[in-house]
Amino acid sequence: MNAFSIATGVGLRLAHLSEMVAARPRCGWLEIHPENFLANPHAKELLIDLSSDYPISLHTVGISVGTASGIDEAHLQRIRDLADTICPLFVSGHLAWSSYRNEYLNDLLPMPYNEETLEVVVRNVDRVQEVLSRPYLLENPASYVGFRSSTIPETEFLASIASRTGCFLLCDVSNIVVSGQNMGFDPRAYVDNFPADRIGEIHLGGYTVEEDEATPGAEVLIDTHAAPIAPQAWDLYEYALGRFGPKPTLIEWDNEMPALATLLAEAAQSEQILKGFCHAAAS
Ligand SMILES: [Fe+2]
Repeated sequence: MNAFSIATGVGLRLAHLSEMVAARPRCGWLEIHPENFLANPHAKELLIDLSSDYPISLHTVGISVGTASGIDEAHLQRIRDLADTICPLFVSGHLAWSSYRNEYLNDLLPMPYNEETLEVVVRNVDRVQEVLSRPYLLENPASYVGFRSSTIPETEFLASIASRTGCFLLCDVSNIVVSGQNMGFDPRAYVDNFPADRIGEIHLGGYTVEEDEATPGAEVLIDTHAAPIAPQAWDLYEYALGRFGPKPTLIEWDNEMPALATLLAEAAQSEQILKGFCHAAAS
């Protein structure tokens, strides 16, 4: 992977694009959803302009590594073309499925973890990396349901994909808090089992607390990216850095977009924590 100083970045969405271009605020790096820019030539032009001032990461939402019928080759080639133009810091995506043959579902859907699905994901990640000619980073999902047919713990599943394909992992700390609450596991134990040596990047995003309609009185966490980062996620972030060492970190908002300054303030908070771990690692 590219060498760059470990820093905090923000997810750049179209709502903040023109302000970012005009103001060029201090920020370690930017992460975009390439699908938003591929269909918008003007936005793509502005992105190329920004890439001269900021390292850019491509976080895909349309590469479905869990699809048994294979990857959409045309879409993959479009991502490759953009990557060749931008020279991204990372190219990443989700451990999920979101398409089947020519049908696209506007969601990141869960999959059971067993030997059969492992073969599907390994085959697809191999193909993604072959076409991109770059390593791919796979992100742990926010979970709301489990499967009786799952036989492999999620952290072990991710470790197997990484060791068999050579891909890297994107550890979304907020997703661990969300999944821990919804699936009833200890987030710190999950961090302890996460394959730390494969982590290229960390995500932090806001989630929403809702009533669990199936269990009156219980709460479910929804990974909305529509709220400030919760104290539990900040706590787990510090715990994770203690175990993983300093890692490039990205602040994500996708809905109920705040002012750009709010994102940058959360990035500054993360940067402060990250710096502490960088100093500790250097001394
Ligand atoms: Fe994420």
